[in-house]
Amino acid sequence: MQLLELVDHYRHSSLWHPRSWQSYPAAQQPEWESQAGIGAVTEQLGRMPGLVGPSEIELLKQQISDAGVGGCFILQGGDCAERFQDCREGLIRGKIRILMQMALVIGYAGRKPIVPIGRMAGQYAKPRSEPHEFTANGEVLPIFRGESVNSFEATANGRRSDPLRLLQAYHTSGATLNFIRMLMGTGFGDLQNLDAWDLGTLKNGSMWKRYEQIAQGLRDALAFISSVGGRKSDLTLRGYGIKDFFVSHEALLLPYEQALTRFSPETGRYYNLSAHMLWIGDRTRKLGGAHVEYCRGVGNPIGIKVSADTNIEELVEVIHRINPHNETGKVTLITRLGFSHVKEKLPQLIEAVRTAGLFVTWSVDPMHGNTVRTSEGRKTRRFEAIVEELQFSFAVHRESGSVLGGVHLEMTSDDVTECTGGTAGVSDEGLESRYETWCDPRLNGGQSLEIAFVIASCLRNEHNQNLI
Ligand code: PEP
Ligand code: CO
Repeated sequence: MQLLELVDHYRHSSLWHPRSWQSYPAAQQPEWESQAGIGAVTEQLGRMPGLVGPSEIELLKQQISDAGVGGCFILQGGDCAERFQDCREGLIRGKIRILMQMALVIGYAGRKPIVPIGRMAGQYAKPRSEPHEFTANGEVLPIFRGESVNSFEATANGRRSDPLRLLQAYHTSGATLNFIRMLMGTGFGDLQNLDAWDLGTLKNGSMWKRYEQIAQGLRDALAFISSVGGRKSDLTLRGYGIKDFFVSHEALLLPYEQALTRFSPETGRYYNLSAHMLWIGDRTRKLGGAHVEYCRGVGNPIGIKVSADTNIEELVEVIHRINPHNETGKVTLITRLGFSHVKEKLPQLIEAVRTAGLFVTWSVDPMHGNTVRTSEGRKTRRFEAIVEELQFSFAVHRESGSVLGGVHLEMTSDDVTECTGGTAGVSDEGLESRYETWCDPRLNGGQSLEIAFVIASCLRNEHNQNLI
């Protein structure tokens, strides 16, 4: 169908149900090895408790709405593809710790409360450009689609699309989230505990001194507050300490998302209770597609990835479709244009959304539009390109009278070598030493902290304050 026909079709079809996506073409779905198996698994998932609650989802939506007008700032980050084997205390603590440290830098230096959202506790499914891969010995195998679907192991058996993996995804998400809730519930995110954030290898890195200056400033502020009779916990309430931690993943495997969709009698609407926030990727945000149909019916905040070749008219219709009542906080547009396209494309996007009168919160993913391959064929991202996309995006929003309300990053606390550059200076040759991602290259701990300083100084520029 042509765009206008589609628009007409959608504006006149309003019945939604957790299953209604099934009448639309669903991109990026695996061919499950057993249809009976997927039926049994989704039935079982449908009886399991939700992992998050409607009131938490509404709270996040409120905060995203606030970020849209500059009241706070969203820090969304984590692995490109989570792995089941990484559901371990030390690794989860490390991921939360780096996000907290970044939140501290951005919040303190940028003077904004931070809303942390992990790409965690459910980020087990990946959209892929090619359905197959060729192994070194010339074998053709189905591509790895994330551990919710098949194994990273490049064998015919490993690459079977096994529906039972969806159950493992649910349980692993639950265990991960439970541990995160324990950490946050016992004060891991409180500023008073900032000295408990073990710095790991960051302590030897060049970002340490700058970080320590901020930490010292905060220790002084906390000491001052308590010396004049204030409660240190007041700081938490004012938003610079983090009480709430939210989780998100790409809404890709629709049978899974459908199975975790529940009606809330309290609010009178459906929610996806597998994550607080969901996003639709660049390959699945089609107006006539099943993913947009699914996302329009749930009360969760929805991120929409926007690449440089996005058809802007179609995007505007997708937003109308997903958010027909123009609710604030419902839609976050996550631009991932690539540093060289930001200055041309972002003003057009901002203008189109403004002209259509749509409320959105803007975020930027400076990772996915800047993926390159080394001469050895390794997928990587240059740190400098990531920084430029961030800086250009802040500048364009400022010049357009718009607000950049958040960032979306692929990152880890580990000392991996997947993105080149940064003060730590990972070179093309150095990539091999700890290239551990199962999908896209992530910022390591030092690079993530450095990015936090870049974001903080962009936010400071907004207030016309000196660079830190
Ligand atoms: C991702 O976020 O991992 C991803 C695949 O992004 P995009 O849909 O923007 O390519
Ligand atoms: Co990715």
